[in-house]
Amino acid sequence: MAADRSPLLEPGWQYVEAPRLDAFRRGDWELLARQRQVFDAGQQAAHALRMLEATAADPGFGYQVNNYRHSIQAATAALQDGRDEEYVVVTLFHDVGFTVCPNSHGAFAAAMLAPYVSDASRWILERHQIFQSHHCHDHPDEAVDPDGRERWRGHEHFAATAEFVERYDITTIAAGLPEAPIAVFAPMVARILSRPPRRILPP
Ligand SMILES: [Fe+2]
Ligand SMILES: [Fe+2]
Repeated sequence: MAADRSPLLEPGWQYVEAPRLDAFRRGDWELLARQRQVFDAGQQAAHALRMLEATAADPGFGYQVNNYRHSIQAATAALQDGRDEEYVVVTLFHDVGFTVCPNSHGAFAAAMLAPYVSDASRWILERHQIFQSHHCHDHPDEAVDPDGRERWRGHEHFAATAEFVERYDITTIAAGLPEAPIAVFAPMVARILSRPPRRILPP
């Protein structure tokens, strides 16, 4: 066995020996499917949480709290309001792409969670950035349009998205607000990501 192979999660698991995807045989795919089922069940939620946790100590650029603490504060507020588990998890991850994908971070989070959440949650994630502009009254950037959300006025998820932004997003950027330990959210993330995924195709 080559010395530089990455370790496998479980003892007794096997590597596919073929070095190229187009050389895989049916048995290779079946092996991967079997091992992947176990892998994803344990690793997907852990990985999602690690994406957040990796930013826990990040310095910021001017907000009183960094993006990680904003995310935790927002999810904590949703939890304290008695929102359901999906809503809390959506809130926790709504800005997970904020630094790596700033101009489309809503779409980033939506792509990650859409297979496991409702259309309403997906809609909130995708558009929360644009709805947030409604509250940035004195912003000098013309791209930040306070009326940008109006193109969706009357949509069935308009009110929920406006409420999400107003209640959980624009109010959770200050020091001194409640921040639950991320361990509180971990079992919720695991349960949401273990739902049978919907297949979402590119438009
Ligand atoms: Fe955001
Ligand atoms: Fe946010």
